[in-house]
Amino acid sequence: MVRSVIKGCGSALPHRVMTNADMSKVVDTSDEWIVERTGIKARHIAGEGETTRTLGTEAARRALDHAGIAASEVDLLIVATATPDQTFPATATLIQADLGITKGAAFDVQAVCSGFVYGLGLADAMIKAGQSRCALVIGSETFSRILDWTDRTTCVLFGDGAGAVVLRGETVPDSPDSPGILVSRLRSDGRYHDKLYVDGGPSTTKTVGHLRMEGREVFKHAVVNIASVMEEAMAEAGVKAGAVDWFVPHQANRRILEGTARKLGIPEERIVMTLDRHGNTSAASIPLAFDVAVKDGRIRKGDLVLFEAMGGGFTWGAVLARY
Ligand code: UT7
Repeated sequence: MVRSVIKGCGSALPHRVMTNADMSKVVDTSDEWIVERTGIKARHIAGEGETTRTLGTEAARRALDHAGIAASEVDLLIVATATPDQTFPATATLIQADLGITKGAAFDVQAVCSGFVYGLGLADAMIKAGQSRCALVIGSETFSRILDWTDRTTCVLFGDGAGAVVLRGETVPDSPDSPGILVSRLRSDGRYHDKLYVDGGPSTTKTVGHLRMEGREVFKHAVVNIASVMEEAMAEAGVKAGAVDWFVPHQANRRILEGTARKLGIPEERIVMTLDRHGNTSAASIPLAFDVAVKDGRIRKGDLVLFEAMGGGFTWGAVLARY
């Protein structure tokens, strides 16, 4: 059978690091509040010349290098982002040009913080349908540019960055032990579109707008939605939480991750957490965390990895893969 196998990963971060102490000079907040309520200690903030495109291109180059795959092999390039360089064309086409890729298709996916999981699910479906053989899935964001820097309830939470994985369709034995994506589950419920949104857009205000969030409301749904979609994905693959080597969640809030872990009986040491240094980087957070854990040797070839996310829309989803 054909599976979408993760061949390599890479990431990129803006140069500037902004700590909670730096943040307390901008809004009325404290390191103590931010760490206690979220687990975040610092985040990277894009400077001049650093954009969703440049960060995404850098992450993609590193992922191709890590995979030992030439850009010319890539025939599908998906960028998950809610902060594109321009309203159009898709940032994916800009990155495609930067990488010198002239074949296949490139497009953006808009599912906010769930974007990377959506991108993986889409790429997997296209590889299995024979429409792609080698895909780059990139999560890249510059949320600092859509934050209201006078609103302490949101601006302390987010950061900028990018992560990428290279997927290649490979024929493998039909076994859960074979490498590749085993299951992807994507969900959304648009009734909650006004709980986490941007108050502008090309067709309404003709502006980009600023991020707005009812944090407590999002928090309430996050644990329930994430836990249920993880359970669905594991049930479809016929595996129990105990068989999963690594949980690589969207990095929104330490308390959400701990709550989900408690609900599913996952030991905390099997959760990859990078939100202390990255903050919430929306669609970039999962591939950033994955890259950190692969490169520091925690996640190894053959490990069973569960990616999960929830974000604006609401959108949420989970992807189970053997690395
Ligand atoms: O990635 C997409 C998904 N997003 C999420 O998953 C985010 C989900 N939500 C959350 O992570 C949490 O709800 C937050 C971290 C956003 C907020 O934590 P909370 O424990 O729900 O706090 P709260 O909103 O209930 O606010 C508690 C208090 C309030 O003061 P009062 O009304 O109790 O006097 C806030 O005004 O904390 C105050 N507060 C702050 N204080 C210092 C809010 N933001 C800050 C701040 N610094 N930055």
